[in-house]
Amino acid sequence: MIKIHQNYPLKQSNSFGLESTAIVFIEVDDPTELINELNNNTIDISNPLFLGTGSNILLNSFEVSTVIKVINKDITVLEESRDSVLIKCGAGMNWDEFVEWTVSRNYGGLENLSLIPGSVGAAPIQNIGAYGTEVALCVESVIIIDILNARKFSLSKEECSFGYRDSRFKQQESKFWLVWEVIFLLEKDPRINLSYKPLKDSFAANYQPDIKEIREAVIRIRRSKLPDPAELGNAGSFFKNPVVSACQAGLMKENHPDMPTWYHDPGTVKIPAGWLIETCGWKGFRRGQTGVYPKQALVIINFGDATAGEILGLANEIQQSVKSEFGIKLEMEVRIV
Ligand code: EPU
Repeated sequence: MIKIHQNYPLKQSNSFGLESTAIVFIEVDDPTELINELNNNTIDISNPLFLGTGSNILLNSFEVSTVIKVINKDITVLEESRDSVLIKCGAGMNWDEFVEWTVSRNYGGLENLSLIPGSVGAAPIQNIGAYGTEVALCVESVIIIDILNARKFSLSKEECSFGYRDSRFKQQESKFWLVWEVIFLLEKDPRINLSYKPLKDSFAANYQPDIKEIREAVIRIRRSKLPDPAELGNAGSFFKNPVVSACQAGLMKENHPDMPTWYHDPGTVKIPAGWLIETCGWKGFRRGQTGVYPKQALVIINFGDATAGEILGLANEIQQSVKSEFGIKLEMEVRIV
């Protein structure tokens, strides 16, 4: 099926709840129909926007030429061995519904990523991560439709160049690559990951939870810290956690002994951007319709009808203040469109 809408409002299609319009909005669940349409040159694909649930974008223009939304939600078990299972999932599937599907069958690997907003197709693009893991660890390959050349191809996990909130899908070369399906390799005898301390601390000492209990705990923690986009417009973490040299972090700790840091690659550490932003006094700040979430300073909020300009203005002020206080340039995690 392919449905083509004209002048389609996007307010309900982005979690910040910003106003914008797609001149053409295409919903598709059949690759052949999309490829036919592309071969007939009926779609303006010069500047496409691929949309999942719009939970990691800031729509900074009132008009977008062509939006393509994959609505293929099929789940197929491709292979099963004694220890593992290979599952293909359509990009249009809601991420958390897919996690629930895997956990309910005791297929392990994605439980720590419960309740992350978004679609399965968006997960590899920014390599979603939380509570001690990231999706790259379970992705086997990604199936793509290159809309410029109207062809389907697949990239192995190595070819995806995954990094912290990063992948090849964020590079210019992938401008025309529509994620169609993702193939996951999951464990049938799940290893439990309690490396994130607040998750471990949510269980009694020495208790060995199963993946259903991990999922429940992650959902509880997320709900206690992060705003529900259905109630308050937001796109999760607005910035990435910066990575600095261990030497720079050591110097910063002289003035801020309480600054949390995590080991990253050799010689480097990650600093929580939320801590930097809170230390600069922004947590709970509100101006008009936009502000900083009082329970997690990494999240910028649209309280109602903020504009993209107001949100970006606040984000820039936060960047400047962290830069002048700590000499660190915060990089945006949210994609500006
Ligand atoms: N912190 C503060 N003040 C704040 C927020 C955080 O001081 O307002 C400090 C605290 O010391 C806390 C530490 O930062 O212990 C880490 O905070 P948290 O566990 O909330 O995680 P985070 O580093 O702020 C990252 C991800 C989140 C993910 C959590 C949990 C990024 C950019 N964000 O946040 O991902 O849920 O870890 O694993 O890496 C997202 O990407 O949208 C997202 C929400």
